[in-house]
Amino acid sequence: MHQEIDLDKIDIHAEPPIEEPARQYYFMAKCRQIVKAERERLGRPLYACIQTFGCQMNARDSEKLTGILTRIGYVECETEDADFVIYNTCTVRENANNKVYGRLGYLGTLKKKNPRMIIGLCGCMMQEQTAVDKLKESYRFVNLIFGTHNIYKFAELAAAAMENSFSGQHHRGTDGMTIDIWKDTDKIVEDLPVERKYAFKSGVNIMFGCNNFCSYCIVPYVRGRERSREPGEIIREIRRLVADGVVEVMLLGQNVNSYGKNLREPVTFAQLLAEAEQIEGLERIRFMTSHPKDLSDELIAVMKKSQKICRHLHLPLQSGSSRILKKMNRCYDKEHYLALVDKIRAAIPDIALTTDIIVGFPGETGEDFAETLDVVRRVEYDSAFTFLYSKRTGTPAAAMEEQVPELEVKARFDRLLAEVQEISAKKARKLTGRTLPVLIEEKNEQDASLVTGRLDNNSVVHLPGTADMIGQICQVYLEECRGFYYIGKPVTDGNGASDKQG
Ligand code: SAH
Ligand code: SF4
Ligand code: F3S
Repeated sequence: MHQEIDLDKIDIHAEPPIEEPARQYYFMAKCRQIVKAERERLGRPLYACIQTFGCQMNARDSEKLTGILTRIGYVECETEDADFVIYNTCTVRENANNKVYGRLGYLGTLKKKNPRMIIGLCGCMMQEQTAVDKLKESYRFVNLIFGTHNIYKFAELAAAAMENSFSGQHHRGTDGMTIDIWKDTDKIVEDLPVERKYAFKSGVNIMFGCNNFCSYCIVPYVRGRERSREPGEIIREIRRLVADGVVEVMLLGQNVNSYGKNLREPVTFAQLLAEAEQIEGLERIRFMTSHPKDLSDELIAVMKKSQKICRHLHLPLQSGSSRILKKMNRCYDKEHYLALVDKIRAAIPDIALTTDIIVGFPGETGEDFAETLDVVRRVEYDSAFTFLYSKRTGTPAAAMEEQVPELEVKARFDRLLAEVQEISAKKARKLTGRTLPVLIEEKNEQDASLVTGRLDNNSVVHLPGTADMIGQICQVYLEECRGFYYIGKPVTDGNGASDKQG
């Protein structure tokens, strides 16, 4: 629908509209005039670079920012020697923050060469007062700072930052910094431009925020309370994506299993999936993340029946110790988790299970860690993301005594990683010799004669092929497994009927 809005027809000398998204289109039109004047002044295109530091939701937000920047006349580029640079930050672990400060130093040197460069910072880290204070104090060359709740206002904020910067005000101090951070919001603004990174697949937000308050996690503080989008809006967006060439969607939320509970007319996540399944032309449906405490029998039943929902479930464990899980406020224990895995596997035997695990939560003993190893061995995850516990100021866990000594945590982490890798390698080998559908995603980075794609269970496959195959689902014979990926051969003749994965 937004594609039809002609920015040139908007009267930018009139008062800006109050309602959204019309207001943002007004500011896009305004930005476009500023960009045009700047382009004529320089006699060259203006470039914009957006860097994503966080999760899939953060990446989806970056696509929204790119959508607006390209709509107002910037040309997207990969490197930071650009005219508009945005860092879309993450703060889930301390090292995510450190990375941003490191890179900002480099941006400062680039800005010395191009003083009219506009630097914007947004995302989860900006929802922390300490981070914003530090930027105001030591990184005054930043033009624009905004948070996660008002990202839909980007066009309006960019207009203010450009006017500030190009009128020279910015050089007079922080007065020229455009800063707008909201503590929370109950608003969801739809129908703004989005520029997808991939033509054939897309993330789709189904909800925002989180209400779970796991005791180690900062996300509920920086993303605010849980809000679900209306199912009709989600389905409409997916239909639009499919009409535009998308064959795979990833439904995104911090806890998709609690989707829809607070809508005026409550809907379950399983019902939403069943509806998405009906969309013609859509081939694959993925989702993340599933909190084990809310995973319903209804969801398992819908997955089992589905032709489109991928045989993959990301089911974060965090710890295998019931004592630690309680301190983490995860609301399930080891037995419940293992019983849930059994139930899922009984219904869908070929499902790939992946997980997140934190090592070194405050008070974790050798015995607690042994419980985690035990679950890992029993579940046999297809793959697992393992994290060193990171203390996040303001979370309950940060105030807990008995923080585990660093060396001990590191030793446990290495043991866990070795275990996880051995199991994944073993699991991966199981599909060797099968012929299965692969969605071709990109040209292989190392070898130009190969393309790379994914199985429905998310495993990576490299095979001989050309760029025109990107976005297609091909039948591929999985010839060899090399650790975590397969080498395959496209099957084109009549013998290529895929065997059912399982
Ligand atoms: N909503 C998702 C997780 C989002 S954060 C869920 O509940 O599953 C992604 C992962 O980062 C988490 O699953 C957790 O394993 C990890 N994580 C979050 N906070 C962390 C912290 N303080 N230290 C280390 N890892 C953390
Ligand atoms: Fe963080 Fe827990 Fe919410 Fe996931 S469910 S985002 S780990 S608080
Ligand atoms: Fe990071 Fe925010 Fe995602 S803290 S993990 S970018 S929700």
